[in-house]
Amino acid sequence: MAADRDDLERIREAVNLVELFEGVTTVRKVRGSFMALCPFHTEKTPSLSIDPARGLYHCFGCGVGGDVFSFVQETRGLSFVEALEMLADQAGIVIRRDPGAAQRSERRKQLLEAVQEAGRFYNARLKEAPDAGPARAYLRGRGYDGEVVEQFELGYAPDEFDALVSHLRSRGFREKDIATAGLARPARNRRLVDLMRGRLMFPIRNTAGDMVGFGGRLLAGEGPKYLNTSETTLYKKGELLYGLDRSRSAISREGTAVVVEGYTDVIAFHLADMPLAVATCGTALGEGHFDLLRRFASRIVMAFDADAAGAGAVVRGDELRIAANLDLDLRVAKMPEGRDPADMVLEGQIPQLKKAVDSAETITRFRIERIFERRNLSEPEDAIRAMEEAAKVIARHPHEMARYRYATDVARRTRTGKTAVMEKVRAAPGGPKGGRTQQAPPREAAARGPERFEADLLRHLMAGAAPADKISPGMFDHPGARRLAAWLLEEGRRLPPGTPVPILEIQDRDLAALARRLELMRDPPPDPVEDVLAHLEERSVKRQKAELQLRLESLDRGRDEEEYLRTMEELMILQRRGSGSEEEQVWIHA
Ligand code: UTP
Ligand code: MN
Repeated sequence: MAADRDDLERIREAVNLVELFEGVTTVRKVRGSFMALCPFHTEKTPSLSIDPARGLYHCFGCGVGGDVFSFVQETRGLSFVEALEMLADQAGIVIRRDPGAAQRSERRKQLLEAVQEAGRFYNARLKEAPDAGPARAYLRGRGYDGEVVEQFELGYAPDEFDALVSHLRSRGFREKDIATAGLARPARNRRLVDLMRGRLMFPIRNTAGDMVGFGGRLLAGEGPKYLNTSETTLYKKGELLYGLDRSRSAISREGTAVVVEGYTDVIAFHLADMPLAVATCGTALGEGHFDLLRRFASRIVMAFDADAAGAGAVVRGDELRIAANLDLDLRVAKMPEGRDPADMVLEGQIPQLKKAVDSAETITRFRIERIFERRNLSEPEDAIRAMEEAAKVIARHPHEMARYRYATDVARRTRTGKTAVMEKVRAAPGGPKGGRTQQAPPREAAARGPERFEADLLRHLMAGAAPADKISPGMFDHPGARRLAAWLLEEGRRLPPGTPVPILEIQDRDLAALARRLELMRDPPPDPVEDVLAHLEERSVKRQKAELQLRLESLDRGRDEEEYLRTMEELMILQRRGSGSEEEQVWIHA
């Protein structure tokens, strides 16, 4: 994407920042300047100031600020490029870029238009057609009035072979586009037939607000209860959340998103005046969904049916969070047995639903309770097993203090003792000893002594059996090890290769003690020095990668394009270095 500076300037000039703000919040003119209720945090008096002349905004309450592009990025969850395209489109400015990209975007536009027209067609059918009578009756049964139909653009797909295809054809859409947009597929005689037939339609929009596909509920007859648009270039189910386009602003204001099972639950939350709900579209909650939500909310409440499937989904969601190393406040709303949010709203239990969301328990608590429920804690064997399982869950919590508090609680309820639980927590796989998020603070590290590979390398150095030119004190995490390595390297330079360094000459008491301790470590002998060095090198590459990745994430590609590309390049170089030699050969010959 190569929008040049002039294009950006032209868009900035053409877009009225005040109007953009008016679209999402209240703006007032106060003594010649514009003040708005900040849409990025909750407030009652306006503290966000807008400077339309310079195209900038700043909130004196929460400190956010930026220009038209960042505004659209933040409020719509778009990337810089997407924001740029959207604003350029609105302002009628053609961005200069390569012809291939222009062609792709033209094609995308046509596909989007086809989907949008399909949405209009379904919607009109639902409202007017005689054959949509059962669909309308179903909606009444669900408690949806005309306003819901309008707001969520609900529709009806007639139970005919090609009602939609003929409609789109008559509107001048090409068959190829109709099929590529996922609206129809070729039958055996190669003629296109509608994908959705005899179904109530829920249009799905992406965060940019484009209609990209549908979920369709069967009303009568045979077939799957819900059918979704199949994967297309527009519709990527791993990156779509139903309702996010509508719930986005409330979610970012509250910092909370509620994940529910389906379309009807999302609508139910709107009816209950809590526009915070989103749902995956015909797929399980995945990493892409978390990525999406993370832009708007730091707290995610899962409100699934209380049945086993719902609980399973919750646990999978948590495993995903752990795997992706996300620092999210993941919570679970306690739903009445066998009831989903849609049922609750229909049954007039809005207060109960609100309460379930407000008092949602943490994911760690939820998982521990489920472990306890399955066991009889008054039996010692059961209690101990429950404690061990709970310790594994606790071990995944990123914060030390929280781990301690959960452990205390588990110890009390299983009557096993805090120390025992904490020991299990520390010993658990993937627990606090492992992952890079849980690096021990330096003071603790000093008390513990250097880790195995660092200790091994020091032992090789002391024996005068390490390649000094490949070693630097910076390779060591442990502060004592770092100082000892510096001393050993310095001393070693004066000695002929292969001569042990006389560690008795160390003056510093702490260093001398560390050296003595290492000297006394006879068994097992240290790993071969090449292996130790390889391990430490790998560790350092891993860390550099993580750091670069973090930097990439914090960079705004549009604004610091140069730095972004440079970081990316560094990362790719590391990637190649980190991967095995086999892959490197592939790279070379490719
Ligand atoms: P339900 O099975 O409760 O659907 O699933 P429903 O339409 O409310 O049906 P009834 O009237 O209770 O029997 C709730 C949500 O889960 C999603 C849908 O979005 C639905 O709104 N879902 C359900 C699917 O995506 N696929 C399915 O096969 C079932
Ligand atoms: Mn239901």
